[in-house]
Amino acid sequence: MSQSHSDALVFFGATGDLAYKKIFPALQSMVKHGTLAVPIIGVAKAGWNLDQFKARAKDSLEQHGGLDAEAWEKLSSLLHYVDGDYSDLSTFEAVRKELGTAERPAHYLAIPPFLFETVVEQLVKSGSAKGARMIVEKPFGHDLASAQELDRILLSAFPESSIFRIDHYLAKGPVHNMVSFRFSNSFLEPLWNRNYIESVQITMAEDFGIQGRGAFYDQTGTIRDVIQNHIFQVMCNLAMESPARDDSESMRDEKVKVLKAIPPIEPDDLVRGQFHGYLDEKGVAPNSQVETFAALRLHIKSWRWEGVPFYIRAGKNLPLTCMEVVARLRRPPTTNTTEDDVPQNYIRFRISPEMTVAMAVSVTSPSGEGKREAVELVATRHPRSNEMEAYERVLTDAMAGDATLFARLDYVEEAWRIVDPVLKTKTPVYSYEPHTWGPKEVEQKVVPPGGWDIPCAQEEEDFRVVGQPV
Ligand code: BG6
Repeated sequence: MSQSHSDALVFFGATGDLAYKKIFPALQSMVKHGTLAVPIIGVAKAGWNLDQFKARAKDSLEQHGGLDAEAWEKLSSLLHYVDGDYSDLSTFEAVRKELGTAERPAHYLAIPPFLFETVVEQLVKSGSAKGARMIVEKPFGHDLASAQELDRILLSAFPESSIFRIDHYLAKGPVHNMVSFRFSNSFLEPLWNRNYIESVQITMAEDFGIQGRGAFYDQTGTIRDVIQNHIFQVMCNLAMESPARDDSESMRDEKVKVLKAIPPIEPDDLVRGQFHGYLDEKGVAPNSQVETFAALRLHIKSWRWEGVPFYIRAGKNLPLTCMEVVARLRRPPTTNTTEDDVPQNYIRFRISPEMTVAMAVSVTSPSGEGKREAVELVATRHPRSNEMEAYERVLTDAMAGDATLFARLDYVEEAWRIVDPVLKTKTPVYSYEPHTWGPKEVEQKVVPPGGWDIPCAQEEEDFRVVGQPV
């Protein structure tokens, strides 16, 4: 059963933001690529009918990626809609009715985690859980205890092999590419450890705010929204050992080992920020202490990484949108020059919006006088990655029963173990002005050796001279 294809897709939260921005475009692409030809049942409580639901889907496609007339016609004919409250069993009886003869539906919970229990219970009661797969959105739980509770709830109705915990970052090409770059270039391996790497920093910056998602965001915050999941996945790809085999379990085993080696984050290793204006957003509590920015330092206590600090910075309303990793190498010994005269080598993975893998090397400046400067050798650069592809890929894989791109139970629990204590400590939240790099306290408390790297707004050149404006 685990490898058979799901014969219907039910998605809860069908009128929500995620559906609008990512799910409908992914569904259209799946239809276009011939991977989706089963009934699709949207469920939400919006007081809508099927026509209104279809109009929303069409609008979503027009706004996010474009409407493909032929694919839309097919997609539209597959759409069903059930409007109702999740606490009302009749909503689920209506879903069961729409499922018709389907025996192996995939239920996709694009809803806040606090609703999972109700939905799972209702699916069981209405007879829609049997033979089904469960696809759940991040964040998976609110802390370690709630994640364990969610696992208990899901596992009471579905085996682990039928549970697909989405982290769409796992389906992004550039995130995969980090693993393949590491393990297919033998020159990198001797450098990729505590002997040569001085520090690693990961920045996930977004130049927009919470985009009307106040009610969700104010229950979540940056650490739960993107650090505990997306950024930790990227960090595991950077830090893990080569898997013994290339099957999904071997890969997931190595990632879990990285997390197991990370002690919980200490309050002194974290700065939280909130952009000025956040409190005026709809759905946000008037005195909210939820962070829209976080900078933190953590340590991986392994033979490979002991003593190498990892710095993570993420936030809303920062100067630009991009995700980038910079691993700085230790400086060479110097004789007749000061340290500052020798630019530092580094390896840079840019994950979005473009994909770049580059390495900074130090050369004598053409301007003469024996000065040195760093230039980047670019191994690869691809234009803007298409983020809809990530959703298409996770949904296609989940419906086909391939678990490789999904977070396993032990992984999710380890990730919570690392952030949970500091989230409960209620560290201060400092204000920052929109379109800056977070509160000034970051520069006092959480600074990588040599400072934070400032990513370029857009990469076009084949190389860039470090320090020059781009
Ligand atoms: C989501 C978060 O999981 O990821 C959002 O909830 C964030 O807050 C988004 O903006 C970023 O994903 P992407 O693919 O747009 O980089």
